[in-house]
Amino acid sequence: MKMLLAVLLIALLPALSFADEHGADLQSVDIDVSDKAALQDGARTFVDYCMGCHSAKFQRYERVADDLGISHELMLEKLAPAGAKIGDHMTIGMQPADAKTWFGAAPPDLTLVARVRGTDWLYGYLRSFYEDPARPWGVNNKVSPNVGMPNVLEGLQGRQRLGCQQIQRVEDGKKQFDPLTGSPVTHQTCDRLIVMPNTGTLTEEQFNQKVKSLVTFLAYSANPDKLQHQRIGAYVLLYLAVLFILAYLLKREFWKDIR
Ligand code: HEC
Repeated sequence: MKMLLAVLLIALLPALSFADEHGADLQSVDIDVSDKAALQDGARTFVDYCMGCHSAKFQRYERVADDLGISHELMLEKLAPAGAKIGDHMTIGMQPADAKTWFGAAPPDLTLVARVRGTDWLYGYLRSFYEDPARPWGVNNKVSPNVGMPNVLEGLQGRQRLGCQQIQRVEDGKKQFDPLTGSPVTHQTCDRLIVMPNTGTLTEEQFNQKVKSLVTFLAYSANPDKLQHQRIGAYVLLYLAVLFILAYLLKREFWKDIR
Protein backbone atom coordinates (compact mmCIF):
# COMPACT_ATOMS: atom_id res chain seq x y z
CA MET A 1 0.00 0.00 0.00
CA LYS A 2 2.75 2.44 0.99
CA MET A 3 4.70 1.49 -2.10
CA LEU A 4 1.70 2.13 -4.30
CA LEU A 5 1.12 5.51 -2.70
CA ALA A 6 4.75 6.42 -3.25
CA VAL A 7 4.53 5.44 -6.92
CA LEU A 8 1.35 7.48 -7.33
CA LEU A 9 2.95 10.50 -5.67
CA ILE A 10 6.00 10.32 -7.91
CA ALA A 11 3.75 10.02 -10.96
CA LEU A 12 1.96 13.21 -9.94
CA LEU A 13 5.10 15.25 -9.21
CA PRO A 14 5.47 16.89 -12.65
CA ALA A 15 1.99 18.34 -12.19
CA LEU A 16 3.17 20.43 -9.25
CA SER A 17 4.52 23.74 -10.41
CA PHE A 18 7.77 25.18 -9.19
CA ALA A 19 8.46 28.78 -8.28
CA ASP A 20 9.06 30.91 -11.35
CA GLU A 21 12.59 32.03 -11.93
CA HIS A 22 11.80 35.26 -13.72
CA GLY A 23 11.68 37.74 -10.88
CA ALA A 24 9.21 40.17 -9.46
CA ASP A 25 7.56 41.62 -12.58
CA LEU A 26 6.10 38.32 -13.66
CA GLN A 27 3.01 36.96 -12.03
CA SER A 28 1.95 33.45 -12.71
CA VAL A 29 -1.23 33.29 -14.71
CA ASP A 30 -3.62 30.40 -14.78
CA ILE A 31 -4.17 29.50 -18.42
CA ASP A 32 -6.94 27.10 -19.41
CA VAL A 33 -6.64 26.13 -23.08
CA SER A 34 -10.03 24.44 -22.99
CA ASP A 35 -11.78 27.77 -22.27
CA LYS A 36 -13.50 28.34 -25.63
CA ALA A 37 -14.67 31.87 -24.84
CA ALA A 38 -11.13 32.96 -23.93
CA LEU A 39 -9.72 31.25 -27.03
CA GLN A 40 -12.18 33.01 -29.32
CA ASP A 41 -11.57 36.38 -27.71
CA GLY A 42 -7.81 35.79 -27.89
CA ALA A 43 -7.94 34.78 -31.56
CA ARG A 44 -9.82 37.97 -32.32
CA THR A 45 -7.28 40.12 -30.46
CA PHE A 46 -4.43 38.30 -32.16
CA VAL A 47 -5.83 38.93 -35.63
CA ASP A 48 -6.75 42.56 -34.88
CA TYR A 49 -3.65 43.66 -32.98
CA CYS A 50 -0.78 41.30 -33.76
CA MET A 51 -1.07 39.99 -37.31
CA GLY A 52 -0.10 43.34 -38.76
CA CYS A 53 3.45 42.31 -37.91
CA HIS A 54 3.47 38.72 -36.63
CA SER A 55 2.45 35.56 -38.45
CA ALA A 56 1.35 32.25 -36.94
CA LYS A 57 2.46 30.38 -40.00
CA PHE A 58 2.24 26.83 -38.65
CA GLN A 59 -1.44 27.34 -37.98
CA ARG A 60 -4.27 27.15 -40.53
CA TYR A 61 -7.49 29.16 -40.30
CA GLU A 62 -9.47 25.96 -40.77
CA ARG A 63 -7.88 24.17 -37.82
CA VAL A 64 -8.32 27.21 -35.57
CA ALA A 65 -11.97 27.54 -36.58
CA ASP A 66 -12.63 23.85 -35.89
CA ASP A 67 -10.75 23.78 -32.58
CA LEU A 68 -12.34 26.99 -31.29
CA GLY A 69 -15.87 26.17 -32.38
CA ILE A 70 -16.07 28.98 -34.96
CA SER A 71 -17.84 28.27 -38.27
CA HIS A 72 -15.73 28.46 -41.43
CA GLU A 73 -17.93 31.29 -42.78
CA LEU A 74 -17.49 33.36 -39.62
CA MET A 75 -13.74 32.71 -39.65
CA LEU A 76 -13.40 33.96 -43.23
CA GLU A 77 -15.74 36.89 -42.73
CA LYS A 78 -14.53 38.21 -39.38
CA LEU A 79 -11.06 36.89 -38.65
CA ALA A 80 -9.10 35.97 -41.77
CA PRO A 81 -7.88 38.80 -44.02
CA ALA A 82 -9.90 39.52 -47.17
CA GLY A 83 -9.17 37.03 -49.93
CA ALA A 84 -7.76 34.37 -47.60
CA LYS A 85 -8.93 30.78 -48.09
CA ILE A 86 -9.96 28.58 -45.18
CA GLY A 87 -7.05 26.18 -45.77
CA ASP A 88 -4.43 28.97 -45.74
CA HIS A 89 -1.74 29.24 -43.13
CA MET A 90 -1.88 32.33 -40.91
CA THR A 91 0.88 34.19 -42.73
CA ILE A 92 1.30 37.94 -43.24
CA GLY A 93 2.39 40.14 -46.11
CA MET A 94 5.22 41.95 -44.34
CA GLN A 95 8.65 40.89 -45.56
CA PRO A 96 11.19 40.05 -42.82
CA ALA A 97 13.82 42.23 -44.54
CA ASP A 98 11.49 45.29 -44.55
CA ALA A 99 10.49 44.61 -40.96
CA LYS A 100 14.14 44.55 -39.98
CA THR A 101 14.67 47.99 -41.50
CA TRP A 102 11.58 49.42 -39.83
CA PHE A 103 11.87 47.90 -36.38
CA GLY A 104 15.54 46.96 -36.09
CA ALA A 105 14.45 43.37 -35.53
CA ALA A 106 12.05 41.22 -37.50
CA PRO A 107 8.87 40.39 -35.56
CA PRO A 108 9.18 36.64 -34.93
CA ASP A 109 6.51 34.14 -35.91
CA LEU A 110 4.33 33.62 -32.85
CA THR A 111 2.94 30.11 -33.42
CA LEU A 112 5.34 28.57 -30.91
CA VAL A 113 6.24 31.56 -28.77
CA ALA A 114 4.28 30.27 -25.76
CA ARG A 115 6.46 27.17 -25.78
CA VAL A 116 9.66 29.18 -26.01
CA ARG A 117 8.81 31.89 -23.50
CA GLY A 118 6.10 30.37 -21.34
CA THR A 119 2.71 31.89 -20.59
CA ASP A 120 3.80 33.81 -17.48
CA TRP A 121 6.45 35.61 -19.50
CA LEU A 122 3.98 36.52 -22.26
CA TYR A 123 1.38 37.74 -19.80
CA GLY A 124 4.01 39.88 -18.09
CA TYR A 125 5.57 41.14 -21.32
CA LEU A 126 2.33 42.34 -22.89
CA ARG A 127 1.40 44.30 -19.74
CA SER A 128 4.82 45.79 -19.04
CA PHE A 129 5.33 48.42 -21.73
CA TYR A 130 6.04 51.87 -20.33
CA GLU A 131 6.77 55.28 -21.78
CA ASP A 132 10.43 55.97 -22.42
CA PRO A 133 11.21 58.92 -24.72
CA ALA A 134 14.73 57.58 -25.25
CA ARG A 135 13.41 54.63 -27.26
CA PRO A 136 12.53 54.77 -31.00
CA TRP A 137 8.79 54.04 -30.40
CA GLY A 138 8.68 56.01 -27.18
CA VAL A 139 8.19 52.87 -25.13
CA ASN A 140 10.34 50.40 -23.29
CA ASN A 141 9.43 47.15 -21.60
CA LYS A 142 10.22 45.99 -18.10
CA VAL A 143 10.17 42.30 -18.94
CA SER A 144 12.11 42.64 -22.21
CA PRO A 145 14.29 45.76 -21.89
CA ASN A 146 14.96 47.83 -25.02
CA VAL A 147 12.50 45.79 -27.05
CA GLY A 148 11.90 46.78 -30.70
CA MET A 149 8.12 46.37 -30.55
CA PRO A 150 5.78 49.33 -30.12
CA ASN A 151 3.08 49.10 -27.43
CA VAL A 152 0.24 47.99 -29.69
CA LEU A 153 -2.24 47.51 -26.84
CA GLU A 154 -1.78 51.02 -25.45
CA GLY A 155 -5.22 52.15 -26.64
CA LEU A 156 -6.78 49.44 -24.47
CA GLN A 157 -4.48 49.59 -21.46
CA GLY A 158 -3.78 53.30 -21.43
CA ARG A 159 -0.43 55.04 -21.19
CA GLN A 160 1.79 53.40 -18.66
CA ARG A 161 4.87 54.91 -17.09
CA LEU A 162 7.38 54.06 -14.43
CA GLY A 163 6.63 55.91 -11.25
CA CYS A 164 7.53 56.07 -7.61
CA GLN A 165 5.42 54.62 -4.86
CA GLN A 166 5.75 54.15 -1.15
CA ILE A 167 5.38 50.47 -0.49
CA GLN A 168 5.38 48.53 2.73
CA ARG A 169 8.61 46.71 3.51
CA VAL A 170 8.31 42.95 3.55
CA GLU A 171 10.92 40.72 5.16
CA ASP A 172 10.76 36.92 5.10
CA GLY A 173 7.26 37.20 3.69
CA LYS A 174 6.09 39.31 6.66
CA LYS A 175 4.87 42.89 6.35
CA GLN A 176 6.97 45.12 8.57
CA PHE A 177 5.49 47.43 11.21
CA ASP A 178 7.24 49.95 13.41
CA PRO A 179 7.46 48.36 16.87
CA LEU A 180 6.92 51.71 18.62
CA THR A 181 4.15 53.36 16.63
CA GLY A 182 2.63 50.27 15.02
CA SER A 183 2.51 52.02 11.65
CA PRO A 184 3.74 50.24 8.50
CA VAL A 185 7.42 50.56 7.62
CA THR A 186 7.62 51.79 4.04
CA HIS A 187 10.26 52.52 1.46
CA GLN A 188 10.12 54.25 -1.86
CA THR A 189 10.65 52.43 -5.14
CA CYS A 190 10.71 54.17 -8.48
CA ASP A 191 10.19 51.29 -10.85
CA ARG A 192 6.48 50.71 -10.40
CA LEU A 193 4.32 50.39 -13.51
CA ILE A 194 1.53 52.96 -13.24
CA VAL A 195 -1.25 53.49 -15.77
CA MET A 196 -2.26 57.11 -16.21
CA PRO A 197 -5.96 57.39 -15.41
CA ASN A 198 -8.45 57.64 -18.29
CA THR A 199 -5.92 57.04 -21.06
CA GLY A 200 -7.16 53.58 -22.08
CA THR A 201 -10.56 52.19 -23.06
CA LEU A 202 -10.42 49.22 -20.66
CA THR A 203 -10.21 49.07 -16.88
CA GLU A 204 -7.17 47.33 -15.42
CA GLU A 205 -9.21 44.22 -14.74
CA GLN A 206 -10.70 44.11 -18.25
CA PHE A 207 -7.28 44.66 -19.77
CA ASN A 208 -5.73 41.85 -17.76
CA GLN A 209 -8.56 39.61 -18.89
CA LYS A 210 -7.99 40.60 -22.53
CA VAL A 211 -4.28 39.81 -22.29
CA LYS A 212 -5.05 36.55 -20.52
CA SER A 213 -7.34 35.52 -23.41
CA LEU A 214 -4.64 36.45 -25.89
CA VAL A 215 -2.07 34.37 -24.01
CA THR A 216 -4.59 31.50 -23.87
CA PHE A 217 -4.82 31.65 -27.65
CA LEU A 218 -1.01 31.69 -27.98
CA ALA A 219 -0.74 28.74 -25.58
CA TYR A 220 -3.26 26.81 -27.64
CA SER A 221 -1.49 27.75 -30.84
CA ALA A 222 1.85 26.45 -29.55
CA ASN A 223 0.26 23.14 -28.69
CA PRO A 224 -3.06 22.62 -30.50
CA ASP A 225 -3.07 18.94 -29.66
CA LYS A 226 -3.18 19.73 -25.97
CA LEU A 227 -6.96 20.11 -26.10
CA GLN A 228 -7.06 16.51 -27.18
CA HIS A 229 -4.37 15.42 -24.74
CA GLN A 230 -6.39 16.81 -21.84
CA ARG A 231 -9.31 14.59 -22.77
CA ILE A 232 -7.07 11.55 -23.09
CA GLY A 233 -5.34 12.50 -19.82
CA ALA A 234 -8.65 12.33 -17.97
CA TYR A 235 -9.23 8.80 -19.28
CA VAL A 236 -5.73 7.78 -18.29
CA LEU A 237 -6.29 8.99 -14.73
CA LEU A 238 -9.60 7.13 -14.58
CA TYR A 239 -7.89 4.01 -15.87
CA LEU A 240 -5.16 4.33 -13.24
CA ALA A 241 -7.75 4.77 -10.49
CA VAL A 242 -9.56 1.60 -11.52
CA LEU A 243 -6.27 -0.25 -11.79
CA PHE A 244 -5.34 0.94 -8.31
CA ILE A 245 -8.55 -0.43 -6.81
CA LEU A 246 -8.13 -3.74 -8.60
CA ALA A 247 -4.51 -4.05 -7.48
CA TYR A 248 -5.54 -3.29 -3.93
CA LEU A 249 -8.33 -5.89 -3.95
CA LEU A 250 -5.97 -8.42 -5.46
CA LYS A 251 -3.42 -7.74 -2.77
CA ARG A 252 -6.06 -8.30 -0.08
CA GLU A 253 -7.03 -11.55 -1.71
CA PHE A 254 -3.45 -12.80 -1.79
CA TRP A 255 -2.67 -11.89 1.79
CA LYS A 256 -5.89 -13.34 3.20
CA ASP A 257 -4.50 -16.90 3.28
CA ILE A 258 -1.05 -15.94 4.50
CA ARG A 259 -2.15 -14.19 7.66
C1 HEC B 1 4.01 47.14 -35.39
C2 HEC B 1 4.49 45.81 -35.45
C3 HEC B 1 4.13 44.87 -34.30
C4 HEC B 1 2.88 44.55 -33.83
C5 HEC B 1 1.55 45.05 -34.33
C6 HEC B 1 3.08 43.57 -32.78
N1 HEC B 1 4.42 43.32 -32.62
FE1 HEC B 1 5.24 41.94 -31.37
N2 HEC B 1 7.09 42.44 -32.02
C7 HEC B 1 7.37 43.35 -33.01
C8 HEC B 1 8.81 43.42 -33.20
C9 HEC B 1 9.53 44.31 -34.20
C10 HEC B 1 9.38 42.49 -32.30
C11 HEC B 1 10.85 42.16 -32.10
C12 HEC B 1 11.37 43.04 -31.02
C13 HEC B 1 12.79 42.75 -30.65
O1 HEC B 1 13.30 41.68 -30.90
O2 HEC B 1 13.37 43.69 -30.07
C14 HEC B 1 8.27 41.89 -31.57
C15 HEC B 1 8.42 40.96 -30.55
C16 HEC B 1 7.38 40.30 -29.94
C17 HEC B 1 7.53 39.28 -28.94
C18 HEC B 1 8.83 38.82 -28.34
C19 HEC B 1 9.26 37.54 -28.87
C20 HEC B 1 10.46 37.07 -28.13
O3 HEC B 1 10.55 35.88 -27.93
O4 HEC B 1 11.29 37.91 -27.73
C21 HEC B 1 6.28 38.87 -28.59
C22 HEC B 1 5.91 37.78 -27.59
C23 HEC B 1 5.34 39.66 -29.35
N3 HEC B 1 6.04 40.51 -30.16
C24 HEC B 1 3.99 39.54 -29.24
C25 HEC B 1 3.09 40.38 -29.88
C26 HEC B 1 1.66 40.30 -29.69
C27 HEC B 1 0.95 39.29 -28.81
C28 HEC B 1 1.11 41.28 -30.47
C29 HEC B 1 -0.35 41.64 -30.55
C30 HEC B 1 -0.95 42.10 -29.34
C31 HEC B 1 2.21 41.96 -31.16
N4 HEC B 1 3.39 41.38 -30.76
C32 HEC B 1 2.05 43.00 -32.05
C33 HEC B 1 6.47 44.11 -33.72
C34 HEC B 1 5.10 44.07 -33.54
